Amino acid sequence: MVKKKTCVFISGQGSNLKNLILRSRDNSFPIKISLVISNNHKAFGIAHAKKYKIPYVFINSKVQNSENKIFLNLKKYNISFICLAGYMKIISARIINTYPKKIINIHPSLLPKFKGLNTFSRMLKNGEKKAGCTVHYVNKKLDSGSTIMQKEFLIDSNDNERSLKNKTQKLEYKAFPEAIIKVFRNT
Ligand code: GRF
Repeated sequence: MVKKKTCVFISGQGSNLKNLILRSRDNSFPIKISLVISNNHKAFGIAHAKKYKIPYVFINSKVQNSENKIFLNLKKYNISFICLAGYMKIISARIINTYPKKIINIHPSLLPKFKGLNTFSRMLKNGEKKAGCTVHYVNKKLDSGSTIMQKEFLIDSNDNERSLKNKTQKLEYKAFPEAIIKVFRNT
């Protein structure tokens, strides 16, 4: 099986990145993480790229030619698939058009509910019964592409933002790899 050369975009902790790196060491897993792009030079996730000897680049999304830099790097590493894992920046239309149905994102809510930021505080305020995560294709609208995989759990009366985040992330570590397997199942 030829693994798809994949770039993971991060901005922070990178725990999903680490999980994908470990999963992708499995021969039967459909992707190889060939590049990590971070728009935050302090992102802890970069440490995972370093540890596992994966090329990484910091691309400051605030500078004018950042998009060109992203493109050059995707080309340089022959990237054919992109995973957004806590990337706090909207992906440009140009990138989306260049990689149709080849960019996926993980979001900490049961989409279409709670798009955007601060999902856990909004869930608690709203008295939600269920929380979870969604892996979806990325299109031009924020957190709106079609769903590939969702995993959910029941919210407990003792839950707070921190516990919701922990429970959600545990599910994310299952959902993201499963979604990737699903994407490539019939290719
Ligand atoms: C995840 O909870 C994901 O749902 C959201 O950002 C978080 C990233 O966490 N998009 P990490 O950087 O992978 O630890």
